[in-house]
Amino acid sequence: MADEPRGYRRNLTNYGDRAFALYLRRSFAQSMGLSRALMDRPVVGIAQTASGFNNCHRNVPELVEAVKRGVLAAGGLPLEFPTISLGEAFLSPTSLMFRNLMSVDTEEMVRAQPMDAVVLVGGCDKTVPAQIMGAASADVPAIQLVTGPMLPMPYRGERLGACTDCRRFWAKYRAGEISDAQIEDIEANLATTAGTCAVMGTASTMAAVVEALGMMLPGTAAIPAVHADRIRAAEATGARAVAMIGTGPTPSQIITPESVENALRVLLAVGGSTNAILHLIAIAGRRGITIDLHRLNRLSDETPVLVDLKPTGAHYFADFHAAGGMSALLWELRDLLHPGCLTVTGETLGTRLTGEAPWVDRAVIRSRADPVDPVGGLVALFGSLAPRGAILKRSAADRNLFEREGRAVVFESLEDLAARIDDPDLDVTADDFLVLKNAGPASTSGMPEAGYLPIPKKLARAGVKDMVRISDARMSGTAYGTIVLHIAPDAASGGPLAFVRNGDRMRLSVRDRRIDLLVDDAELGRRREGWRPPEFPSRGYRRLYADQILQADEGADFRFLRGV
Ligand code: FES
Repeated sequence: MADEPRGYRRNLTNYGDRAFALYLRRSFAQSMGLSRALMDRPVVGIAQTASGFNNCHRNVPELVEAVKRGVLAAGGLPLEFPTISLGEAFLSPTSLMFRNLMSVDTEEMVRAQPMDAVVLVGGCDKTVPAQIMGAASADVPAIQLVTGPMLPMPYRGERLGACTDCRRFWAKYRAGEISDAQIEDIEANLATTAGTCAVMGTASTMAAVVEALGMMLPGTAAIPAVHADRIRAAEATGARAVAMIGTGPTPSQIITPESVENALRVLLAVGGSTNAILHLIAIAGRRGITIDLHRLNRLSDETPVLVDLKPTGAHYFADFHAAGGMSALLWELRDLLHPGCLTVTGETLGTRLTGEAPWVDRAVIRSRADPVDPVGGLVALFGSLAPRGAILKRSAADRNLFEREGRAVVFESLEDLAARIDDPDLDVTADDFLVLKNAGPASTSGMPEAGYLPIPKKLARAGVKDMVRISDARMSGTAYGTIVLHIAPDAASGGPLAFVRNGDRMRLSVRDRRIDLLVDDAELGRRREGWRPPEFPSRGYRRLYADQILQADEGADFRFLRGV
């Protein structure tokens, strides 16, 4: 690495004359007003993801300016470049469909442009996974900087923060407990500052997971978006990126089977989002590392949930930071972690976890002796309905529903769900299992966060708060309920889920880690006759998506992007 060309000398455009290519590049760089002295510096690229379609990245311009200050002060030349930005609520059919596209954009722009290191500025659910996936493949020294969580804000005697509170109030609205005027007022008060969703949703989970993985400066995952420390963290990230030039570590040195396991431990200990398992599988897959869902179950059984955050607990991600944040959490988990893993600091995780115990507020970050839950938040289920696995967030589920058999009430698609879920004539009881098909990665809907099927209105109005819900879809990290997700293989690829019919019996056993369809193979074989996969467009990105998309147990990555 030490002898590689640096800065503008790197990755020269191919004209068949290297000296001419450098001369031309410098000439064009001069048109941007750069001095010769600056052009001779090593270059830190800054992936710029501000977008009018991404509220969670509202503070990216401010952070980029701070990163630039850090790079300049450390002797580098900061050059920002745009990539795709994915705003969770602004994409159709779903942001996940474009995560892999953003990862390709990030990987190729990092690789093709003359940068010696890169700072990845992201935050919203899919942007951080996409950036780390891209960086893992490009393998140029890289540091993640997140935009940070929103602050929950006071509202009529309580605090509101996206988006667990969004769902809580929407459920009340559906049940007829609050009016049109009230829901409109609440809409204006759920997300009021810059930053990512305020709870332990996917964005917060991924920030914690990426710090545990070693790809982010220590202690920076949870700094609120509007806190001055967030800007100071950006400056420090820029300075550190310069220090990594020529010495690393590179993503391939940081992302190892051991660091991935550390990240999984943290995912379990924070009671994190189900989406994070999908993203972590995809990130690991970029370095040829496989996450075995049976191994996830073993880790889950020995990793307690230690943080008391919404959607399962009481607090917000900003409270977690104020309570000691990632340093306090990692300290609590230290005997379960692999200490030899390198981080972007150039030091090991073990080095970080020496010395005095950090200050901690036990109301938010509990001790191992007094956990929120003695076992981890996520479990994988297997069985005749999900031969390659499914995911349940047991920490967000109703334990009274863990061991039961029920009758399937089936919705063939998202459209069918929307059309019939609130039909007063729907044949459904609180003991039934609601089943949604054709919402997995191979479906044309691109695996939306539709697994949180609404409780049918007539049951909600009768006071039913939770039911067993089963699908090949995902669920927002801010959602909760007894919800079996990520069924693999999915219905659109011809998995058993495709052949479930109304009235079939199904059995859920969280104790045995099983989800079964109680229909014999001969009958399933008959139902399989004449089945056809969905039709995708014949051109464009969606054609590529259809040809390359993998199942949830492979991170829903593209086949041609996995491996090194
Ligand atoms: Fe961006 Fe929730 S919508 S983090």
